[in-house]
Amino acid sequence: MPVLRFPDGFLWGAATAAYQIEGSPLADGAGPSIWHTYAHRPQTIENGDTGDVACDHYRRYRDDIELMRRIGLEAYRFSSAWGRVLPSGKGAINAAGIEFYDRLVDALLEAGIRPALTLYHWDLPQRLEDSGGWANPDSPRWFAEYADVMADRFRDRVPLWITFNEPWVFVWLGYALGVHAPGRTDTGQALAAARHVLLAHGAAVERIRAHCPESDVGITLSVQAYMPASDSAADADAAARSRAFNNEWFMDPIAFGRWPKALGDEFGEFLPELSDADAHVIQRPIDFVGLNYYTRHVVAHDAEGFFQSRPLRPRGRRTEMDWEVYPAGLYLVLKEFYDRYRLPLYVTENGAAFADPPADGEGVIPDWERLTYLRDHFDAAHRALSEGVDLRGYFVWSLLDNFEWGFGYSKRFGIVGCDFETLERRMKQSALWYHDLIEQNGI
Ligand code: FCB
Repeated sequence: MPVLRFPDGFLWGAATAAYQIEGSPLADGAGPSIWHTYAHRPQTIENGDTGDVACDHYRRYRDDIELMRRIGLEAYRFSSAWGRVLPSGKGAINAAGIEFYDRLVDALLEAGIRPALTLYHWDLPQRLEDSGGWANPDSPRWFAEYADVMADRFRDRVPLWITFNEPWVFVWLGYALGVHAPGRTDTGQALAAARHVLLAHGAAVERIRAHCPESDVGITLSVQAYMPASDSAADADAAARSRAFNNEWFMDPIAFGRWPKALGDEFGEFLPELSDADAHVIQRPIDFVGLNYYTRHVVAHDAEGFFQSRPLRPRGRRTEMDWEVYPAGLYLVLKEFYDRYRLPLYVTENGAAFADPPADGEGVIPDWERLTYLRDHFDAAHRALSEGVDLRGYFVWSLLDNFEWGFGYSKRFGIVGCDFETLERRMKQSALWYHDLIEQNGI
């Protein structure tokens, strides 16, 4: 008998993203994305790695669905590559490209696995970047067109739609800090891009609703638990400001039609105004919020710091990403988001990179650290559920070891291993354990 039982209908899945697993980024008429361009630029990715081959999921998707079936996944979160569908980002549809997702979705449904489709997991078509990317005020229209094509094609074959994955990350790291594609370093452009991404989100929600009235639509955000370094009011305020920037920047406009106050305090006149007309589009009702949780941050007041705060470095255990392992933080962000926005939630990503030991005699990779990480986070999610948080499901990051952006293939997040020389897949202990958990709907 499981000790911790999850509610009936709780959805157990795993997640991936197109550029991280598919490979063959230019196959069958696809247009290059900003990640293709960026990864091929010297000195951007560890080891000079690119997504050219990745896990070769583009060709091996049937085998991967068989793995999902063996694990017992009920849902699979993946993203579609915009440039496969619309090679120039807009205009002509590439039949061979969209047919890949047709085959994938149909094969998932045949296997009894619910597709959860993310329209944008960071791979903007390069042609659109050449026209200014997300800093171009036309970008919401480009995205609406792409969303329309996808929603029209997939209708209710896709029960869960996610407009964007982690706008904070691709806007801030891509446009302000320059450490993700497209590698720009202009805060003003990042702030403008944020407004355009929100307008694009609202426009896409409207298109998806029009074509897929039975499906649920939401957005996925990167979130961390922000905790004050001490009991002082100054540190509590610093944590609240960091939280506003990281967790609320995109969600407050969707829920309340305005930027969090701390953004105005920090960026002043550089923060674009949200008009009533903007708010009307951005506030289109959504069915859920997807949260990607990996770690926490402890912050102290610092009058000179960004958002008048300064991160500390707690001494806890860390993953290969150098992220602190802090399961209680998942409980905190679930409570925080449910209290603040009152919307159903999914954990759309959670998982850990560890250096895995070699396979055992049975050919299974004994990844006990990852298994423990997941168990402790499921436990934290269960605690939030038992206190009334409306959490609907959980997607482990990731189904497969894959291309971890700037870190290339050096960080392994999979519950299934991938040998990047032979492309052979290998079950990890965490996947076998996850199988039993799903079967019992509990730990
Ligand atoms: C998230 C991304 C995902 C993966 C994990 C580790 O920020 O959405 O693609 O890289 O981190």
